[in-house]
Amino acid sequence: MEKETVLSSIEKFAVENKVPILLPESRTVLKEIIKSRKPQNILEIGTAIGYSGCLMLLNSHESKLTTIEKDSNMIEVAKSNFQHVDLMDRVFLLHGDATEIIKNLPKKYDFIFLDGPKSQYVHQLPFLLDILNEKGLILADNVCFRGLVFSKSDLPKKNKYKTIVKNLRKFIDDVKNNPSLKYEILEIGDGLMIIQKAE
Ligand SMILES: C[S@@+](CC[C@H](N)C(=O)[O-])C[C@H]1O[C@@H](n2cnc3c(N)ncnc32)[C@H](O)[C@@H]1O
Repeated sequence: MEKETVLSSIEKFAVENKVPILLPESRTVLKEIIKSRKPQNILEIGTAIGYSGCLMLLNSHESKLTTIEKDSNMIEVAKSNFQHVDLMDRVFLLHGDATEIIKNLPKKYDFIFLDGPKSQYVHQLPFLLDILNEKGLILADNVCFRGLVFSKSDLPKKNKYKTIVKNLRKFIDDVKNNPSLKYEILEIGDGLMIIQKAE
């Protein structure tokens, strides 16, 4: 099957089953980064049904992907999607809490796509920097979180959102205040942050 057809059918499944996957504008950024950098080892946090994983591997034929997901139903669908496009030989699907798993990963990565629990980015950052290659890059999705992160108004009333917004602000500050990092925030989709180690 053509790669665009496979991706469209996963997009359709996501819409019908209300699975949050990467927004269309952000897909373009991810695809361009992958095509231009062709990272050998990719780490993804938040596999969901394997949409972004397929997008990355279908656009870089030598890359290998380690992807972490805690929801077993998602894992099953992701596995079947990766199998469908013959990608399983380049995928290591890890089932569990990414915040714990990343503390024990045995190798280093050239590209990390951070798209799991938003309130955990801040806790995951130090471990991710340890396993990011010197010339590697982290792409974090949803850093603007519904426009709330950079909003001057009060924190949202919903407790869940409040924690996400507070922790995303801290994540962004930690990156900004770390002299060994350079970064860029793209106000695309729900907000993307590109993080690299400064030379
Ligand atoms: C936005 S979705 C990922 C979308 C996917 N990257 C894509 O664009 O196709 C976030 C995923 O992170 C998973 N998740 C949430 N908390 C997690 C955790 N602590 N560890 C691993 N995965 C987690 C959710 O179950 C969900 O499937």
